[in-house]
Amino acid sequence: MTLEQIKKSFLTDFQTVKDLKSLEFSRIKYLGRKGELSKILRALKDLPLQKRKKIGNQANILRKEIEKLLDEKFQKLQTTNHKPQTTIDVTRPGEKASVGHLNPLMKFEEEVIKIFTSMNFSVVEGPEIENEYYNFDALNIPPDHPAREMWDTFWLKESKNTEKLLLRTHTSPVQIRYMEKYNPPFAIIAPGRVFRHEATDASHEINFDQLEGLMLGKDISLANFKFVVEEFFKKLFGPKIQFRFTPSYFPFVEPGVEVHIKLDNGKWLEVAGAGMVHKKVFEAVKYNPYEWQGFAFGFGLNRLAMIKYKIPDVRLFYSGDLRFIKQF
Ligand code: DAH
Repeated sequence: MTLEQIKKSFLTDFQTVKDLKSLEFSRIKYLGRKGELSKILRALKDLPLQKRKKIGNQANILRKEIEKLLDEKFQKLQTTNHKPQTTIDVTRPGEKASVGHLNPLMKFEEEVIKIFTSMNFSVVEGPEIENEYYNFDALNIPPDHPAREMWDTFWLKESKNTEKLLLRTHTSPVQIRYMEKYNPPFAIIAPGRVFRHEATDASHEINFDQLEGLMLGKDISLANFKFVVEEFFKKLFGPKIQFRFTPSYFPFVEPGVEVHIKLDNGKWLEVAGAGMVHKKVFEAVKYNPYEWQGFAFGFGLNRLAMIKYKIPDVRLFYSGDLRFIKQF
């Protein structure tokens, strides 16, 4: 075969190449050692110099052309053969994108709020940066009162005018802010973050959450409080929960009590302070103490959540540890 004929034959064959197998077949047929081109190249040595040069040159050009076409086809066939399946199984379940969720304490808080709103309490809020008056004075804790030591306080360097600012040490100031604006009868709760300038350990954090409560009317008594607490605990922990009141002291109530819950190990744990609102507090918000009465309470929400979910260390709540957070 002449070079011309080889080229023609290759091009016809090449058009029928549809897969890798026939491609390889063509490669052997035209470029292989026993192929037509090799035959011509091998015969070169018998030709006169001029012809040898000319044909040798042309043969090399043709070989490169064939090589190029075969390589391109090879690339094409390989990618089409490895194309991913184009059919989509629409019945396959999708992959769930992982999304963030609420901190367990916030979730717990929502649960607690639901229970109280089911008993007709309204939810109110107050600022985390407070002044001395709302956090202490109006709650019957004047500057030189020894009870101020019950709350290790973060005082702020920046103060507004002459007012001393602080991070609220409890949610009780929300009571004052609410009573200044509204008149009884009412029942409110005020959940929120509070701050204490304290050393931390498994049961102490410099910030935690409280749930303040206040119920006022003409004849609201501690017996009403006992009913509310019982309802709350039963809904939160189940009907078998045991609790007790013990006498205690807080400047803004009289009498004052502590609420304890019986733990699985038989020990009692304080979870709230409470009492009948003190006359001095009513005077601070210009209520007539002979007309209105009622109870106030303050629960430690972290402690309740720790009991409910058997969380051993209060510091876990703000640790940002996903292994902890993802369990809720
Ligand atoms: N504010 C108190 C504290 O943080 C808790 C408390 C006690 C709140 C008695 C009350 C109350 O409303 O009546 O330690």
